[in-house]
Amino acid sequence: MAILYVEENQMWVLRTRRSDYAFGVDSFGRLQHLHWGGKQGNISDFPHPDDLQKWVWEAQEGNSREEIMPWGGYAFTEPGLKMTFADGVRDLKLQYIQYEVEGDDKLILTLKDAREPLIVKLVYRVLEEYDLIERHVDIYNDGDKPVSLESVMGAVWHFPIHPDYRLSYLAGHWGAETQLLREPVLQGKKVLESRRGQTSHQCNPWFAIDFGEAVEESGEVYYGGVSFSGHWKITVERTPYQTLQINAGLNDFDFTWQLDPGEVFTSPICVGGYSNAGFGDASWNLHAYQKSELLQKSNELRPVLYNSWEATMFDVNEKSQMQLAEKAAAIGVELFVIDDGWFGQRNDDKVGLGDWYVNPVKFPDGLRPLIDRVQSLGMKFGIWVEPEMVNADSDLYRRHPEWIYHFPGRPFTEMRNQRVLNVAREDVQNYIFTFMDRLLTENDISFVKWDMNRNFTEPGWPERPHDKQKEIWVRHVQGLYSILRRLREKHPGVSFESCSGGGGRIDMGIMPYVEQFWTSDNTDPFDRLAIQEGYSYAYNTKAMMAWVTDVPNYVNGRTTTLRYRFHSAMMGSLGIGVDLNAFSTTELEEASAYIKQYKTIRETIQDGRLFRLMSPRSKLGTAVQYVNESRSQSALFVFLHAQRFRHPFMPVRLRGLDPEALYYSAELNEERSGRSLMTIGVRPDLKADYDSQLIVWNKKE
Ligand code: GLA
Repeated sequence: MAILYVEENQMWVLRTRRSDYAFGVDSFGRLQHLHWGGKQGNISDFPHPDDLQKWVWEAQEGNSREEIMPWGGYAFTEPGLKMTFADGVRDLKLQYIQYEVEGDDKLILTLKDAREPLIVKLVYRVLEEYDLIERHVDIYNDGDKPVSLESVMGAVWHFPIHPDYRLSYLAGHWGAETQLLREPVLQGKKVLESRRGQTSHQCNPWFAIDFGEAVEESGEVYYGGVSFSGHWKITVERTPYQTLQINAGLNDFDFTWQLDPGEVFTSPICVGGYSNAGFGDASWNLHAYQKSELLQKSNELRPVLYNSWEATMFDVNEKSQMQLAEKAAAIGVELFVIDDGWFGQRNDDKVGLGDWYVNPVKFPDGLRPLIDRVQSLGMKFGIWVEPEMVNADSDLYRRHPEWIYHFPGRPFTEMRNQRVLNVAREDVQNYIFTFMDRLLTENDISFVKWDMNRNFTEPGWPERPHDKQKEIWVRHVQGLYSILRRLREKHPGVSFESCSGGGGRIDMGIMPYVEQFWTSDNTDPFDRLAIQEGYSYAYNTKAMMAWVTDVPNYVNGRTTTLRYRFHSAMMGSLGIGVDLNAFSTTELEEASAYIKQYKTIRETIQDGRLFRLMSPRSKLGTAVQYVNESRSQSALFVFLHAQRFRHPFMPVRLRGLDPEALYYSAELNEERSGRSLMTIGVRPDLKADYDSQLIVWNKKE
């Protein structure tokens, strides 16, 4: 049973396959956290809710570890909920009222402020199979006056007290998203956040805590994320009393939400998990959860895609795209995507955003001839859009200058010559839905790359009263989700990719509306190894798009072999972004052979289990292995970074195979038992700088 209620102790235990999460009501009526971690045998094994730490010169009551830390009384740590009542009172004391269980996995606890008719429901969903818990809060204003919400977290997580907490998180910048960082947690507070309107390149809403000793395959790891695509915040706070508290939810910076009488406010969902089998297991639980619970069409394999962005930039037209489409089809591409530049007067990034009509010079007969050609070549057709943005030089902006976020009378800050449409407004949402609906209705489009190329600045909404303007951070994201929801309902055959100048919008909040992510604009295959590694800690492989592009790479000027570029990109959902017109026959043949090979292992890569055998952060090289569910196939990718002293590459020991089975590798022309591959390992043959090898093992019948 996933949810256990123990009446005599007034406590609840959320049980997953390998973890227990427990809390109970203390004598002040507060919900005290009791345990998160390994499974306990008896109820008497859990501490009592009143058993708080005792420290000199600190009120014992202040050592409260409440499930949601309301700001009031002795609560000095980061609040889980902070608000102001209509009479100016800013004190919140939440007391337990009742609980209910919905289905066999959902627990809802109702709390009420000690004085005001303010109800907070803590909603837990136990994902037994994945050792995960989803949490969020619903806040009801049952009074007759508005209240002002100032800080709303979806979850407050507490951890076992330990001297050596270590934090892992994903940070970076444009072209260097999702880099894994690790550091000890000492006293004080570390804030991971986005204040930029979208999820951000700079920091991603995921964390992991271990006790300084967990590795890929062993050790206790706690981890989680915020399912929200903008204005999120995770605080990691080690108190002077050695406890660790992580708050995850909405960013309270520049945020208030007026909750009118009778209204309810719902926080983002936060996910948390526990593993006693290391970071690899933690990642795998998230991958499996995202596949089964969040991502769209996750049971289908992602097609091999071609996108001409890096090849032609804004210079797209019917003839050149048709030429590329012919070549793409010939090498095995299944989905042909036309990127930026097809609409309005869009000849560069200074003009046209917002004008979503087909450019009549580039496509005199509309998109149909190109789509027909693409389809006759056996491919599906996809298109790029950036619906939340506008260039000042556009018909849309000339018509609706008031549709952007701005503060009246103040100058605008532009990024990439564009301004952000106020998607919090319903009329803007309807505009976006209408043009997208028309585009998808009039054209046989199977795939949409939904881009978002800048951060929010001057986030004013002058038509709203002052105290409601700061809601835009949340209303924009809700507006975006609602447009995507409506589009998906009306056009169920269309798949979506979440892109934001590369990987600025990768998170679990947008997952239910998309099939995949654009991981980074940095397509250099070596840099990608690190970006993809970080991504893999938190997110599902199938959703990770990786392209093979031209050399020297446009971001960093590095030249690598086609083989190395393919191997790096084959570790996710494969895309091709090279200028196929400039490819020689030999290169086209080589590309075609890799795509063919990819198709024989893509199920293993996209749906299989990923093992990070050697990190790109190491000096030696990188090794990543994928194993399919039945353990009948494994794909091992190895990369040598820089050749040094002619040292041979280390043997790589595989994981996850059937020890008794025999496996055959055509690359090595070798037959080995699973046991031997997992204990003695494989010795890759890598010699040159940026050398790579893909070794596939198929189980012998
Ligand atoms: C962003 C995307 C790119 C490309 C360009 C087009 O940078 O990440 O892949 O679509 O926009 O302007």
